[in-house]
Amino acid sequence: MAGPATGTTPVPEPITAPDPSTRPEGATVTNTETAPSAADASRASRPIYALKNVSKTYKQKNRTVTALTNVDLTIPQGQLVAIQGPTGGGKSTLLQMLGALDRPSAGSVLLGEQDVAKLGDRALTDLRATEIGFVFQSFNLIPTLTALENVETAFAGSLANRSRTEIRDRATAALREVGLGERLDHLPAELSGGQQQRVAIARALVKNPSVLLADEPTGALDEATRDEIMGLIEKQWKERGLTVVIVTHDSWVARRAERRLHIKQGQVREV
Ligand SMILES: Nc1ncnc2c1ncn2[C@@H]1O[C@H](COP(=O)(O)OP(=O)(O)O)[C@@H](O)[C@H]1O
Ligand SMILES: [Mg+2]
Repeated sequence: MAGPATGTTPVPEPITAPDPSTRPEGATVTNTETAPSAADASRASRPIYALKNVSKTYKQKNRTVTALTNVDLTIPQGQLVAIQGPTGGGKSTLLQMLGALDRPSAGSVLLGEQDVAKLGDRALTDLRATEIGFVFQSFNLIPTLTALENVETAFAGSLANRSRTEIRDRATAALREVGLGERLDHLPAELSGGQQQRVAIARALVKNPSVLLADEPTGALDEATRDEIMGLIEKQWKERGLTVVIVTHDSWVARRAERRLHIKQGQVREV
């Protein structure tokens, strides 16, 4: 794992925030069909996430592990946030709360106007399917499927009632957007690490979610590829008005974010 601040990499250019009004569809978690109105101006600054007094504990055989303690956190729509902190500090647990993968033990996690803490399993699945894209350090591609087929898996489950043609067209367009239009039929093993992460980003974004959550997205990549992948994530962030949350050990990556959070022993602070 690359340590923090190598000292050789210049501080990145400041990034301008995207205009949330340019997001093509589903610009907010609620009221996606509403016509533009006077409410849009305030919606742009409305938080996409509001966490209040969130705690998460895991029960093991004879002890309880506390992963998050009384976390209060608001994330405005369209923000690019980096999360750093020591191993075991609670970074992945927080990302799971933001990604509606799990419910908090206490407190509320509002995504738009929906409280992840109060939704049933089916509703959480639907929320994830429509609003959230995930990217992981290890790419998590299915090795027996081509790049195109991997991206198409995003439409499994609740969104499967689309035509084969539409799914194929959207997956193809998503792969073109990440620069892999010539690699549609390649298996993951036939692609470089950077190309595999591009496929994973296409899979995460093909449904046009509101939020992109990335857990160490550049952790397995060399420096040049890391820079390419961060460039790609930033481009998608700007063009789509996405909210992006990146967990990273890499200070170079964190410095590219608009906002940096540090999590240690389950507690979040601004950097
Ligand atoms: N499924 C789980 N069961 C039990 N303990 C867990 C589980 N997931 C995480 N933990 C514990 O919660 C704490 C925070 O973990 P995690 O969120 O994975 O931290 P990080 O991603 O910062 O390394 C750690 O003590 C970890 O061992
Ligand atoms: Mg982790």
